Amino acid sequence: MTRPPKPPARPRKVSLRRYAKLFRQDVLSAQPDHLYRAWMAEFRTPFFRSYMCNDPALVDLVLKERPDDFPKSDRIREGLAPLLGNSVFVTNGETWKRQRRIIDPAFEGGRLKDTFPAMLAAGQAAVDRLRARADGAPVEIEEETSAAAADVIFRTLFSIPIEHAVAREVFAAFKAHQRAQPVLNLGVLLPLPRWVPRFHRRETKRTARKIRALITQITAARMAEIEAGSAPDDLATKIMTTADPLTGETFDTAEMVDQVAIFFLAGHETSASALAWALYLLALYPDWQARVAEEAAREIGDGAIAFSTLKRLRVARDVFRETLRLYPPVPMMVREAAQCEHFRGRAVKPGSQVVLSPWHQQRHERIWERPDEFDPGRFETENGRQGLRSAYMPFSAGPRVCTGAGFAMAEGPLLLALLVRAFRFELVAGRPAMPVAHLTVRGKDGIWLRLTPRG
Ligand code: HEM
Repeated sequence: MTRPPKPPARPRKVSLRRYAKLFRQDVLSAQPDHLYRAWMAEFRTPFFRSYMCNDPALVDLVLKERPDDFPKSDRIREGLAPLLGNSVFVTNGETWKRQRRIIDPAFEGGRLKDTFPAMLAAGQAAVDRLRARADGAPVEIEEETSAAAADVIFRTLFSIPIEHAVAREVFAAFKAHQRAQPVLNLGVLLPLPRWVPRFHRRETKRTARKIRALITQITAARMAEIEAGSAPDDLATKIMTTADPLTGETFDTAEMVDQVAIFFLAGHETSASALAWALYLLALYPDWQARVAEEAAREIGDGAIAFSTLKRLRVARDVFRETLRLYPPVPMMVREAAQCEHFRGRAVKPGSQVVLSPWHQQRHERIWERPDEFDPGRFETENGRQGLRSAYMPFSAGPRVCTGAGFAMAEGPLLLALLVRAFRFELVAGRPAMPVAHLTVRGKDGIWLRLTPRG
């Protein structure tokens, strides 16, 4: 029976040195098999203790009930500082709350309707770009989905396509930055003792400076347009003109630059990963691909799609949802216990790491029936619905949930439907994909597919 690829687990007992080595290669295959059955696991090292929580009640406690007691650690901020500065992704406490009050209105359900035409235009542009490659030759599809997702962000945020000179440069600089330092690096997840100095490689700092200079250029230009009353009505304008209801403050250019950096990073890597895996799964399961294609042909027709069409793309949505279950783009999240806690009868010291793993929870053997199988139909079953409620968190949960969750759940099924309506996707013999966790869950040697036009 066909099974979606899953990384091999490591043996239960390994030395810290070997663990660190495995971890550096790939966070996923550094984990032992029993985590797919455990409600909680404790990792002890000479420097720190870490608790992976799979128990839905514990996850709720950390993310929903008492999130202020489990902040993001300073280490995460240090790791990401050259690129992200003081962005909403890394701040805590009052600064984070103020930033969310300003950002959230731009991503509310009602605003999605205004964002939709730009999203659709990016999807149609992706189909046009891929036409030239739909000759049956192998295509590394992550690269294509990455360009498509970046295009979505540029168009929705700043009303510019990826072909725009600055957008092209930002996209290229991000690629170079990731080559210089995968953002989810060892230091970010594995706490080193405080006395170990933290260096960012010169190349990392250089690429981060370049990205920030480019983003500053478009953000400052937008600020000038807003002041002149000539700014387009897109996400950047909305965010930059929204005042915090409590303090009346708006973002200045510098603080907006930090936010644009995270929107771009969090918003394009993640969607690109999910879309690439969704297409791979559809190549692995042609019967599901046929169903997506049939739905897309029926609902999208000649391409004149209204926002209301989105909710009728049910098969595409369930396929995208199931993809996010099996390949959550952000496989693990880390928090720090600010005070003494008791987790499932164990004392957790302040400063301990609390790891929440969508990867493990969404494949948990005591929660999901046939957890490693691809079955978008599962969400129609009681077990699937129960899993969605209690053990499904590709976008995290609680007040710190992904700001772009609704946006991504519109973008993903839409682009999937547009692409499958236009092309047939097939596997490439001898090039199976294997997931590894870099910044997001990616194919170890890329994700290869063959495309041909669909009549
Ligand atoms: C399939 C696509 C996406 C997935 C799976 C995803 C997943 C996540 C997850 C798991 C987090 C929480 C990380 C943590 O707390 O450590 C997060 C945070 C965030 N995401 Fe997304 N995301 C996606 C798309 C987007 C998009 C399209 C945007 C914006 C346009 C976005 C913006 C953000 C921001 C700003 C945060 C930080 C929120 C905060 O800390 O308050 N994401 N995302």
